[in-house]
Amino acid sequence: MTEKKGTIFSGMRPTGRLHLGNLFGALENWVRLQDEYHCFYCIVDWHAMTTDYENPGDINKNVREMVMDWLSCGMDPDKAVVFRQSDVKEHAELHLLLSMVTPLSWLERCPTYKDQLQQIEGRNLATYGFIGYPVLQAADILLYKANAVPVGEDQAAHLELTREIVRRFNYIYGKKVFPEPETLYNKYRVVSGLDRRKMSKSYENAIDIACTPEDIPKKVRMMITDPARIRKTDPGNPTVCTVFSFYSIFKPDNLSVVEQSCCLGERGCVECKNNLSELMLQYLEPIQQRRRELEDNPNRVTEVLEEGREKAVQVARTTMEEVRSIVGL
Ligand code: TRP
Ligand code: SF4
Repeated sequence: MTEKKGTIFSGMRPTGRLHLGNLFGALENWVRLQDEYHCFYCIVDWHAMTTDYENPGDINKNVREMVMDWLSCGMDPDKAVVFRQSDVKEHAELHLLLSMVTPLSWLERCPTYKDQLQQIEGRNLATYGFIGYPVLQAADILLYKANAVPVGEDQAAHLELTREIVRRFNYIYGKKVFPEPETLYNKYRVVSGLDRRKMSKSYENAIDIACTPEDIPKKVRMMITDPARIRKTDPGNPTVCTVFSFYSIFKPDNLSVVEQSCCLGERGCVECKNNLSELMLQYLEPIQQRRRELEDNPNRVTEVLEEGREKAVQVARTTMEEVRSIVGL
């Protein structure tokens, strides 16, 4: 194996089909990193259970959808370890041991905990599992002694907490068992949705990776452009236009041409949108081709998860042997 820069861990909750926000906000980055680092990419189904414990119905299906989205976007199970969290029970054991050393006050003051308690309605989240969410996340990362974790900005507080847990654990047991993982922010931090808010499943403003070729132009037509522009000859302001923000992803090399013609009122929004649809279709075509192949071959998905489990378990077992002995078990 060629020389690698270190180990990376990241995870996603299996909440259904992924959209372009997930692709450009995270996946693309993960795929790029698989050549440079030893990568562990995990479908964190136990994390999904912390909020969806009453309705876990779709989790198994969603795990498989996620594998298909990941692989069709270029994740390579021969390079990265692709696996499901609940397949590796060591995550639960390390979570338990880390929970012993984690002060409750750290978890109570975690901003994501406070936000979500307020925002998510109709479910009782005053649970032991939910407050422990970041401890489980720390266990995920530390089990593989990851040096770096590629995530979005929304995960900054969880990563900080992971580092605090590392320092406390290493201090208490007097040994540098775990490295402090660094946060690697994804390149396109936020992808805007059709309505200019952040692209998100819950806002219903998303374009799925598996969106059919017929639906792409329909979605693009729904995108909000510069609202001050009424006639084609009106000078436009691309910085407030959703369509333009997608050009920066799909055609970064001639962005200034689009920008200039928009600002000078030489470009109509309809034409601008049609061109974008074409670019998106071209980009997504090979991805969707691979996805269809996987949909037709469900055994392949099972096999990938099984191979991933085997590789992950090997590392997880070794870490747990060391951890048990260090804590005196
Ligand atoms: N909390 C992350 C999210 O909601 C998912 C996650 C779980 C994760 N464990 C992780 C991310 C470990 C990075 C590393 O997106
Ligand atoms: Fe947006 Fe293009 Fe219309 Fe300018 S011409 S406002 S960039 S859609």
